[in-house]
Amino acid sequence: MNIAVIGSGGQLGSDLVKLINQSNTDKVYPFTHQDLDCTNLDAVQTVFQNLWPNLDAVINCAAYVRVDDAEDNPEDAFLVNAIGAKNIADACGTLDIECVYISTDYVFDGTKTTPYREDDEPQPLSTYGASKLSGEALTRIGCEKHYIVRCSGLFGIAGASGKGGNFITTMLRLASEGQEIRVVADQLFSPTSTSDLAKKILWLITTRQYGISNITSQGECTWHELASFVFELTGTQKKVLPISTNEYGAKAKRPLYSVLGHEGLQKLNADDLPHWHDAVHEYLRLRGDIR
Ligand SMILES: NC(=O)c1ccc[n+]([C@@H]2O[C@H](COP(=O)([O-])OP(=O)(O)OC[C@H]3O[C@@H](n4cnc5c(N)ncnc54)[C@H](OP(=O)(O)O)[C@@H]3O)[C@@H](O)[C@H]2O)c1
Repeated sequence: MNIAVIGSGGQLGSDLVKLINQSNTDKVYPFTHQDLDCTNLDAVQTVFQNLWPNLDAVINCAAYVRVDDAEDNPEDAFLVNAIGAKNIADACGTLDIECVYISTDYVFDGTKTTPYREDDEPQPLSTYGASKLSGEALTRIGCEKHYIVRCSGLFGIAGASGKGGNFITTMLRLASEGQEIRVVADQLFSPTSTSDLAKKILWLITTRQYGISNITSQGECTWHELASFVFELTGTQKKVLPISTNEYGAKAKRPLYSVLGHEGLQKLNADDLPHWHDAVHEYLRLRGDIR
């Protein structure tokens, strides 16, 4: 397949590009934010038309990901996550190309106590979640051949530069600076490696089973458990103080429970992703933090 990756400089985008480059059968066209701004419809249409007919699928990893900042900058979040998604999906739809939109567990309100299914009713609590849910809808409307992939708590080698690091790199930095580390211990989710996620997305787009797929690691934990596990594996002698979501007082509301069920993948007879413990171990090994 010939696959364009939009937002290819990010954590997930760069792992997708790396994997496609390693394939013998697929070809990748990577577009960083600098190469292609998804909010510019003319630019998006021109790029896709120039590649067509040698373009089979577009994976949209471009996103405004600063969840708290989105509360003060809703226009910016919606411009990238919704209008940018619409531009990409509309251009794909016109050319009959498959379109993949990467979405989030934050489309849910967290009131469930069992894993969210693909067909559960979304009810975002934050501007970021609402902008991603709009991106899902506009992708569905713009491109019949769409895949919507919901994931959570991503960590990858590229390290989420837009946010100043992903959660794991932020924890390691705070520890190295000797700062007190207080971490939320009442939000449950499934931390997911972008490398594992990228592999599954590349498999998913061979199935032609369009619609929503939840793709996350096996298992679940709180941010406090994740930080403690990272420090345990890296031998970081630093106490992680558990605090509540209310004590932390983030600007954006987050779901207290956002574990995603994998019924969609199971229906396709897909293997599950590794457990988050194994994914974090492999990530720290690749970063050179552990052997
Ligand atoms: N990170 C998480 O924990 C998480 C959890 C659930 C779902 N997701 C979703 O998963 C996807 C991938 O996340 P990620 O962690 O890989 O994010 P990331 O590392 O921040 O990558 C996002 C990329 O999008 C680019 N971008 C921003 N605005 C753009 C625009 N207007 N046009 C083109 N590119 C633009 C960014 O470039 P610049 O940095 O140069 O602006 C960045 O390279 C996103 O859709 C996100 O919403 C993430």
